[in-house]
Amino acid sequence: MAKWERGRLQNDYARVRFPLAPLMKTILVTGGAGFIGNHFIRYYLRTHSGAKVINVDVLGYAGNLENLRDIEKDKRYKFYKADIGDSQAMSRILKKEKPEAIANFAAESDNNKAITSPVDFARTNVLGTAVLLEAVRQYSLQTASRLKRFHHISTCEVFGQLPLGSRTSFSEHSPFQPRTPYNASKAGANHIVQAYFHTFGLPITISHACNNYGSHQFPEKVIPVFAIRALQGEQLPVFKSSRNKREWIHVLDHCRAIDLVLEKGRIGESYNIGSEVEKTIDQLADGILKILGKTKDLKKIIPDRPGHDTRYLLNSSKIMKLGWKPSIKWEDGLRETVEWYKNNANWWKPLLKKSHSKNY
Ligand SMILES: NC(=O)c1ccc[n+]([C@@H]2O[C@H](COP(=O)([O-])OP(=O)(O)OC[C@H]3O[C@@H](n4cnc5c(N)ncnc54)[C@H](O)[C@@H]3O)[C@@H](O)[C@H]2O)c1
Repeated sequence: MAKWERGRLQNDYARVRFPLAPLMKTILVTGGAGFIGNHFIRYYLRTHSGAKVINVDVLGYAGNLENLRDIEKDKRYKFYKADIGDSQAMSRILKKEKPEAIANFAAESDNNKAITSPVDFARTNVLGTAVLLEAVRQYSLQTASRLKRFHHISTCEVFGQLPLGSRTSFSEHSPFQPRTPYNASKAGANHIVQAYFHTFGLPITISHACNNYGSHQFPEKVIPVFAIRALQGEQLPVFKSSRNKREWIHVLDHCRAIDLVLEKGRIGESYNIGSEVEKTIDQLADGILKILGKTKDLKKIIPDRPGHDTRYLLNSSKIMKLGWKPSIKWEDGLRETVEWYKNNANWWKPLLKKSHSKNY
């Protein structure tokens, strides 16, 4: 882990105000070798001293055990290579590890890949979640309600898009109006998770986060793509609708929010996790170029991605009432993230050939 990140983690944990005593002794995390999952695992181990974390990841192109090298020997951490859509494997792991909580991060997560391979998204995000839920239901029946929580990680993108310049935002009750295969698959998964609550009484919660940024994000997403391109003196591919906006949250603030929902969230409910920090794609490119001391002429306008949403903004007042607010300032977080990519070329260079942004 980079020095800045260690500092950031320590500062961040110091600000955690909710109880650190683990309600959940064993938590099973799916997709923990990916970007958000690896941060969540390290966060959870450090803030819940008595807890054990089981990581289940199929190690698809975005799953990377290098992300967890620093904790692989920790006795409170265990890894299984398995697919959430493999019912037998998931049942076996649940029976053996007996988790009290499950946090489902596993997903196909890239909107660009969703254009070329949409069925992969339905398979993992919809069917995979359904298979996992059924394995969890069977497990919870067998263990007489040992399971306290199934938490599903979702996205603001299920709500569709907002017009630029509007004053509205999405609440937890906004209708799902997804416009891309990724967004639609995440919305489908949400419906199935809710159905397992209403029909079977599974103790679920769901969170919808805005765009995350931070270290260890696969180099196909916009911040690593812009940082890496700028570092290499290459052009930054800026979508034609360069005033389209995204709301940005630091991944550690997202992890803290998920932890809080696990501890204090009401069963059967959903929580939005946003920062209110909105940046246009153009502002993002300019910010990264400035941090790296590069000029704006590195920006290159490219055609919009099909189904390119204009804007999402979450109303996050519900989770704030539980006692959470974002703690990492955009300017600090972006600078630290870009510096992480600058100092960790050995992490991202081997991954470039797998990136779905390579055709820009
Ligand atoms: N990155 C964001 O900005 C963002 C925002 C909101 C919500 N989310 C959600 O958060 C979750 C994690 O996103 P991320 O950015 O870390 O994604 P990621 O692509 O970096 O990681 C996904 C992980 O899931 C694993 N995986 C994929 N299919 C699997 C399967 N069938 N079985 C087991 N593991 C599988 C991959 O190997 C990878 O390690 C996703 O559910 C995503 O929809 C992401």
